[in-house]
Amino acid sequence: MGSPLNILIAASEVHPFAKTGGLADVCGALPKALHHLGHNVLVILPLYRCVNISQYDLRPLPQTISIPVGPKKIEGILYEGELIPGVPVIFVAQEKYFDREHLYGPPGKAYPDNAERFIFFTRAIIEACKVTQFKPDIINCNDWQTGLTPVYLKTLYAYDSFFRKTRTIFSLHNLGYQGEFDRNNMPLANLPFSLFNPAGVESFGDFNFLKSGLVYSDILTTVSKTYSQEILQPEHAFRMDGILNSRKTDLFGITNGIDYSEWDPQRDPWIKEKFSAAKPQGKTACKRALLDHFNLKSQRDQPLMCMVTRMTTQKGIDLVMAAVEQFLLKDAQLVILGSGDARFEEFFRTRKSKQLGVFIGFDEPLAHRILAGSDFILMPSVYEPCGLTQMQAMKYGTVPITSAVGGLEDTVVQYNYKTGEGLGFKFSPYSLEFFSKRVTDALTVYRDAGQWQTLVQNCLTADFGWDRSAQEYERVYRLTLAR
Ligand code: ADP
Ligand code: GLC
Repeated sequence: MGSPLNILIAASEVHPFAKTGGLADVCGALPKALHHLGHNVLVILPLYRCVNISQYDLRPLPQTISIPVGPKKIEGILYEGELIPGVPVIFVAQEKYFDREHLYGPPGKAYPDNAERFIFFTRAIIEACKVTQFKPDIINCNDWQTGLTPVYLKTLYAYDSFFRKTRTIFSLHNLGYQGEFDRNNMPLANLPFSLFNPAGVESFGDFNFLKSGLVYSDILTTVSKTYSQEILQPEHAFRMDGILNSRKTDLFGITNGIDYSEWDPQRDPWIKEKFSAAKPQGKTACKRALLDHFNLKSQRDQPLMCMVTRMTTQKGIDLVMAAVEQFLLKDAQLVILGSGDARFEEFFRTRKSKQLGVFIGFDEPLAHRILAGSDFILMPSVYEPCGLTQMQAMKYGTVPITSAVGGLEDTVVQYNYKTGEGLGFKFSPYSLEFFSKRVTDALTVYRDAGQWQTLVQNCLTADFGWDRSAQEYERVYRLTLAR
């Protein structure tokens, strides 16, 4: 135990205020876990239209901020709220940039001024520290939307005594999203143009916010051990292998946890009947309710599989579509909740049946009901930096069938029917043939009541809490400060 640190967590989404995926879960849970370790934590995100000011009792601060964006000065208002008592949250309000229907753009698209929006936000993060007099030891930035903050600190604010002791961490949640913008956006950032080169903020001719964070942060983290190694290989690195290899001694893999105050079948307000490892019976009522909800034919002996997912190539939707066409629905039923690429949405929308339940959209209560009521979750991801959904599923006694990549490799232990150890079923190499074999193995275990009970109990009792991961973040923060 050392002295408490001042830690700023900066992100473009934070649960419960704004969420499109796991980034929000992490940035909502990690600050709480760090607070419980005794640190002073401040969280900062944009004030989007979806954030309900009165519900969260947000109050505007008296001082405003004024951020240079190109030749203009753009005013912003800071609102203050809290994540839990003791963990304040600052919301950066700027109507023109953030009072919009979506966070980044309509499904499958990006707002054309995203560079400008997040140039404003990344510099507002720094100015907000001064306004609130929060002198951070650590600014933990997350993903491309916050990638420029470390650049500002190392250049325009390099001699600002307020940040003399501040060090930056850049946490990578997904290299597939980089914030790549035309170089014409460079003047909007008001950074020296000399930074626009391959050793700086440029990547293959573009102004790249993720690359910027990778180059200018003091330390890098990513969200699982296996992903931290995969991304050193060109096939997983989305063209960032050069910079990542040059910084590999600064790169740490810390596997995410899940937030038990949100995900716990013993306390979940959304599900039909609460349950636990000691009293697992309630899960049967949850399954029945789920079958009814999707109007699926009630077939006692059939396992119910599910997916709760962004519908993108990353998530292996192509493989699931092929499996649906060829074999999956013969011996199992499937419910899928998700939204994303039009071709995936269209496929599932047009195949709704008594065996296949489909809801296209984003619906948190339904996600809880699906994970509680299903027997299996499918996550055949092409790549998966960590993945939270498989851990949420296991916490609800729902057995994962996944590819053996990234955080899936680290969190899903292959079930061994001889020893009764393990948590799910993993396939590798990535192909329909191997996926299909694992589904067959999973169904064999499902039909053996004794084996099945053991496996479900293993999932229900596994630990995916944040405590251990938060301690690892603390260790990395201290190491960064000691350098
Ligand atoms: P990713 O961040 O790549 O989308 P994760 O598994 O890390 O994947 O996290 C996804 C998060 O979003 C989980 O909390 C999951 O429950 C939630 N989620 C995904 N799709 C939906 C949806 N359509 N409706 C509600 N929640 C969803
Ligand atoms: C990203 C990744 C996912 C990870 C999440 C939170 O969205 O796709 O694997 O769990 O971030 O770190």
